[in-house]
Amino acid sequence: MQTLKNTVWWITGASSGIGKSMCLYLLKQGAKVVLSSRNEESLMQVVKEANVDTNQYLILPLDLENLSSPSELVNSVVQKFGKIDYLINNGGISQRSVASETDLAVDRKIMETNYFGTVILTKAVLPIMIVQQQGHIAAVSSVVGKFGFPLRSAYSASKHALHGFFESLRAENTKNNIKVSLIIPGRINTMVSNNALVGNGNAYGLLDEGQAKSMSPEVAAPIIIHALLKGKKEILVGGKELLMVHIRRWLPRLFYYLSTKVSAK
Ligand SMILES: NC(=O)c1ccc[n+]([C@@H]2O[C@H](COP(=O)([O-])OP(=O)(O)OC[C@H]3O[C@@H](n4cnc5c(N)ncnc54)[C@H](OP(=O)(O)O)[C@@H]3O)[C@@H](O)[C@H]2O)c1
Repeated sequence: MQTLKNTVWWITGASSGIGKSMCLYLLKQGAKVVLSSRNEESLMQVVKEANVDTNQYLILPLDLENLSSPSELVNSVVQKFGKIDYLINNGGISQRSVASETDLAVDRKIMETNYFGTVILTKAVLPIMIVQQQGHIAAVSSVVGKFGFPLRSAYSASKHALHGFFESLRAENTKNNIKVSLIIPGRINTMVSNNALVGNGNAYGLLDEGQAKSMSPEVAAPIIIHALLKGKKEILVGGKELLMVHIRRWLPRLFYYLSTKVSAK
């Protein structure tokens, strides 16, 4: 197994769910980790749980929806660790509302957070990786980054946009020895549905039935990290719901039918 010791990982959405589990796994393996999200207190809880020395982590709070001066953030990472090996754009918010009842402000908020926030941070880190002539950037998409699905119009659009951006970025930067991966979870048992927005911008506040029965983030995190270490370009992670990706590709008519029947909660 490739050693993680002394590799530097910057993970957004590190306070909860998939991001938190990735941070805990990496810290346990001796990696250096930059933890980012809005909630500084929750980030501090994560490093407390990891029980590691302060020279192994950096807490950098940020709001992906309003990312004003990312270069200052990048400078503080480089100052502390001297390099950035991995940027994992994981932070994001989901949606539980039909398009016809979703305020445009909610569409914009989801796009700002999931797409533009990710792009802004990536563009701030990219020059460092180009100078290093090495690095690996990943974005956490979703199966609904591969197809549209009920109650997810803005969310699905924001994840589709990530595919376009990051596939282009990969093609442009292979010559700079920079790898790009899209992580495509099915359902992972996190707070994602609780934190999802409804049409008026309020939090949905419920754990979906499908979510409750799904893979735990503690199981998902090492699967994702080891797939990244292998340099996989697309990383599907989850349970039987991943089948929909293959059905959409190979049996589109069956997919169109199922997408009106399968529970979106
Ligand atoms: N769980 C699933 O079934 C599933 C499926 C497909 C894709 N995903 C994707 O996986 C990623 C992680 O989600 P999760 O399942 O772990 O859900 P989660 O438990 O709700 O975690 C979401 C993370 O994103 C952060 N975040 C939200 N808005 C932010 C903002 N404006 N600025 C900075 N950070 C922000 C949250 O931290 P703060 O609140 O502290 O800011 C939190 O750490 C998301 O991109 C999600 O779309 C999840």
